Amino acid sequence: MNVIAINGSPRRTGNTATFLHKALEGAASVGADTECIDLYSLNYKGCISCFYCKRKDKEHGTCIVKDDLTPVLEKVKQADAVLFGSPIYFMNITSGMQAFLERLFFSLYIYSREIPSVLGKKLPSAFLYTMNATEEQAREFHLQDSLTPFETFAATILGTAPRKFYAFNTLQFNDYSKYESSIFSEADKKAYHEKHFAEELQQAYELGKQLVLEGSSASY
Ligand SMILES: Cc1cc2nc3c(=O)[nH]c(=O)nc-3n(C[C@H](O)[C@H](O)[C@H](O)COP(=O)(O)O)c2cc1C
Repeated sequence: MNVIAINGSPRRTGNTATFLHKALEGAASVGADTECIDLYSLNYKGCISCFYCKRKDKEHGTCIVKDDLTPVLEKVKQADAVLFGSPIYFMNITSGMQAFLERLFFSLYIYSREIPSVLGKKLPSAFLYTMNATEEQAREFHLQDSLTPFETFAATILGTAPRKFYAFNTLQFNDYSKYESSIFSEADKKAYHEKHFAEELQQAYELGKQLVLEGSSASY
């Protein structure tokens, strides 16, 4: 059992990475081999629309673009479960995560009446999001609607609906006094963190465990 986490944050030790590593800890606690890949340490770009992956005379499911993402795409396809972690940037996943998902999903997606995906198995997945917004703000601005497209394609292409995890009201800086951040109350943020962080970490841990259990029962 192999679980891969994809960190779509440029911060390798930020909020997203912290929750992803906790989820991987949960996965490891029930026997999974785990790995976290930091997208922002790689050089790659999004889909270039060459359609090689859909050519009838080629093997479907392979992205022909050769860059740092090539081995990562292969690893994800071989994995038993995958976690996609991203901070929310302007109400969406980061451009790095978006470019990665374009390459992963489009190379597996097929314009066929018979099957939507050439993956050939169910790959349990989870989207893990971290954001400044409070839960109430996320609801007020319909954040979940802007996240729906990639989640929907994940369900179609990976063969099973992704799990979802949200960490709201994250701490962006260690020391708020060093930055112009008067729209936030540092005290409120720290109080929220104090109250909820441990519980959120535990939820991420459980998410990792659940993915492994789902991965063990996923059928080809
Ligand atoms: C360019 C940029 C855009 C952002 N846009 C949003 C946003 O639209 N909504 C939000 O709630 N937080 C937004 N944030 C805050 C981050 O989502 C939040 O701090 C996140 O937890 C950072 O994760 P990290 O520590 O893993 O990098 C933005 C941050 C940056 C740098």
